[in-house]
Amino acid sequence: MEDVSIHERQPVAQIVLDHPECASVFRQHRIDYCCRGEQSLDEACRQREVGVGEVMEELKRAIATRRPVSRPDDPRLLDTEALIERIVRRHHGFLREALPFLVPLAKKVARVHGAHNAHLLDVHGYIEELSDLLLPHLDREEEVLFPALLGHQGAGGVETIASEVASLHEDHLQVAELLERLRNAAHDFTVPEWACTSYTTLMRELSAVEADVFAHVHLENHVLLPRYARG
Ligand SMILES: [Fe+2]
Ligand SMILES: [Fe+2]
Repeated sequence: MEDVSIHERQPVAQIVLDHPECASVFRQHRIDYCCRGEQSLDEACRQREVGVGEVMEELKRAIATRRPVSRPDDPRLLDTEALIERIVRRHHGFLREALPFLVPLAKKVARVHGAHNAHLLDVHGYIEELSDLLLPHLDREEEVLFPALLGHQGAGGVETIASEVASLHEDHLQVAELLERLRNAAHDFTVPEWACTSYTTLMRELSAVEADVFAHVHLENHVLLPRYARG
């Protein structure tokens, strides 16, 4: 049987690499396993002022009740070409559909309900900022970084990779910050009783975007880029 042991000193990114189903537990506790993935479970819990024992229990429950994940789905087993293809098809594709739908939806909800619920104006502002940051980021990865990582002709070499990685990493940090502000402004994506269908849809989709961006940046930061950092 697979060893599911986790311990307090493990980096949170490692826990998600070994057990992807732990990602949702970290999200609920606002533990960033992407850009702050090197911090240990213990440190992350202290920072969020939540008991490490309590979180460990939740992580173990998530692991015990996970859907059966077939081994070939583990992204660490993919070669770089297949990994990049997965990132582009699954995660970039998702954002390219979700963001152009969500920005006008957030604007509409803010227009209708914002006068009495000022946080909805912030929700609109943050999702717009996130979209403005992420869409060009995806283009740049696909047009510059990924071809260079794959060694495509005319794509630039080691120096291109180093400068692109540094600049895209800055974007990832900003994305993590924006996601945190968005979650705060959206009151943890909760839906009040009086909410209309647009409001309900907005909260559900924002939560889906948050989950997907975390999974996406995690793949880039902890599976793809370390293959190059070590040279
Ligand atoms: Fe990406
Ligand atoms: Fe990225």
